[in-house]
Amino acid sequence: MSKPIYILNGPNLNRLGSREPEIYGTTTLADIEQSCQALAQKAGINLSFHQTNDEGELVTLVQEAADEASALILNAAAYTHTSIALLDALKLLEIPIIEVHLSNPAAREPFRQTNYVSPAATSGVFGFGAVGYEMAVQAVLRLLD
Ligand code: DQA
Repeated sequence: MSKPIYILNGPNLNRLGSREPEIYGTTTLADIEQSCQALAQKAGINLSFHQTNDEGELVTLVQEAADEASALILNAAAYTHTSIALLDALKLLEIPIIEVHLSNPAAREPFRQTNYVSPAATSGVFGFGAVGYEMAVQAVLRLLD
């Protein structure tokens, strides 16, 4: 059995569904996990899905992905714009890294224009809402095929 795909989610994404729905939509993180698990299951690959509000825990999970994952899909949420520790951890990975955002940070406030994830990412899916996660899983499945 090949290694699992990791999907890691940063701070406040546990509140999807009710958090600023005009920006992030009404789909919950549990719904997102379910649709991604269904896609992975259909392809016969395991998927390890996590959310944390803690920067250190996110770094630890990225390090774990370096050893355990076949690919990483990451929505680092606000840590995207602040965390050099996260960028350093991402540089450990020798697997595809797909950056996901529900919104398109490039079209938002100036403080969201700083991005510490993109320099380490293979590619990204931005601004498609919850569907972006499914698009990222599909892209990873194609890459791993
Ligand atoms: C986000 C965009 C970030 O700027 C923001 O801090 C988030 C969510 C997104 O998915 O659109 O928490 O990562």
